[in-house]
Amino acid sequence: MKISVIGVGYLGAVHAASMAELGHEVIGLDVDLRRLERLSAGESPFHEPGFPEILRRGLATGRLRFTADIDELADADVHFLGLGTPQRADGFGADLTALDAAVDSLAAVLPARAGVSTLVVGKSTVPTGTARRLAGRLEQIDGVHLLWNPEFLREGFAVRDTLEPDRIVYGVRDPEVAGPEIAMLDAVYAQILDRSEGGVPRLVMGYEAAELVKVSANAFLATKISFINAMAELCEATGADVTDISRALGMDDRIGNKFLRAGVGFGGGCLPKDIRAFIASAEDLGAGQALGFLREVDAINQRRRVRVVDLAREMLGTLRGRRITVLGAAFKPDSDDVRDSPALEVVSRLMAAGAHVTVTDPEALENARRRVEGLAAVQDTAEALQDAELVLLLTEWREYRDLDPIAAAQLVSTPRIIDGRTVLTPSEWRAAGWEFQALGRPDAPTTLPADDRSVPVADALIDAAAQA
Ligand code: UDX
Repeated sequence: MKISVIGVGYLGAVHAASMAELGHEVIGLDVDLRRLERLSAGESPFHEPGFPEILRRGLATGRLRFTADIDELADADVHFLGLGTPQRADGFGADLTALDAAVDSLAAVLPARAGVSTLVVGKSTVPTGTARRLAGRLEQIDGVHLLWNPEFLREGFAVRDTLEPDRIVYGVRDPEVAGPEIAMLDAVYAQILDRSEGGVPRLVMGYEAAELVKVSANAFLATKISFINAMAELCEATGADVTDISRALGMDDRIGNKFLRAGVGFGGGCLPKDIRAFIASAEDLGAGQALGFLREVDAINQRRRVRVVDLAREMLGTLRGRRITVLGAAFKPDSDDVRDSPALEVVSRLMAAGAHVTVTDPEALENARRRVEGLAAVQDTAEALQDAELVLLLTEWREYRDLDPIAAAQLVSTPRIIDGRTVLTPSEWRAAGWEFQALGRPDAPTTLPADDRSVPVADALIDAAAQA
């Protein structure tokens, strides 16, 4: 089938190459000429395992190409919209400028095809009501139908999540009468849906539900992370270890053990801006109260970033003039993405407090340098650790998780570390002479006096009952 993908950022580029991998003839459109040049040369503009291979394969077979000229897309059967919907500069809402502009330019070139359907398939994360609004514009053209088919891909697993998703969601105007459009999109995804190959479930629903599935999935994930980070705050006040809580909670099948790792919180191009856009969209719909809790989810997440800086200050006495090495700049491992990266925000706060910060990361330093002016970035981990008075682990790349505390102690000036991702084993680091702190794993509670801790909770309750 002939397919176009409009907007070849992270989502769009991976989708375009994946569709070529499925055997379709694909053309990707973007306004960023430099990006198009790189993609056309088989060069990935971002770090994503497996993507360079499918990109090059698509280009080599001639099934995949890129253009800046929308006229070249006009004869495709299916047009995917992969445009970014970033947070607006003036508030929490999503900025739909790029998406609206793309739909306008597409509508201007789409031919009316009597008897032959053309599908436009939205993949961007959008506020509820967007699909119906865009459908009103596009479906004025004979034969054109809009479906909303949200994308759930995770960075670092983008190719796998596209070709082997957990589920595929189609949002349509009216599920009762959308048979032909559904069949057409099924044909695009035939190999993924193929039951004989253990295919994935495909769910058809109205536009609004499809839009909500995407944002509510991200809101749920963000809530799960902030929940465990709220428990980390309680652990810091009581002396408990949050990793014990995560482990025990995760063994309950109804809760599940994923997304329960406490630490410096969530970042990236999706979770933070999507929950804010969700809050804004619910308020616009007059249902703001329903999502009031998401403001707290966001607030807990922001507080963790501040807490790391406070912990660093507590350990060093003052931050001014102190040499701090930060392990990790990306918002998560296996990514070079620094958008709303907790690690980089901590770095900026430490720098603002007068610390001499050195940052290292296997993939994200180039992007980090562009974001933070005057950043001291060092590629080599051992070199970055040299002479540090405090080390902060803020992105849990494998090589940082596997650091040898004995060898690392030889490099730094004073062995002090904060594990901001709860991935290190405190006893190993302490045994190697490190002063060790981790978010949610206090060696002493931060608020309760030591005496209070020594009274087991059950005993305290019995005493209270006896006095009553
Ligand atoms: C997310 C969603 O997972 C994906 O379905 C959606 O399509 C896009 O947004 P992504 O942004 O790639 O994907 O990151 P994800 O793997 O979800 O991690 C988000 C953030 O949460 C990262 O900063 C990560 O470090 C943090 N995180 C994750 C935690 O702090 N604790 C956890 O237990 C899990």
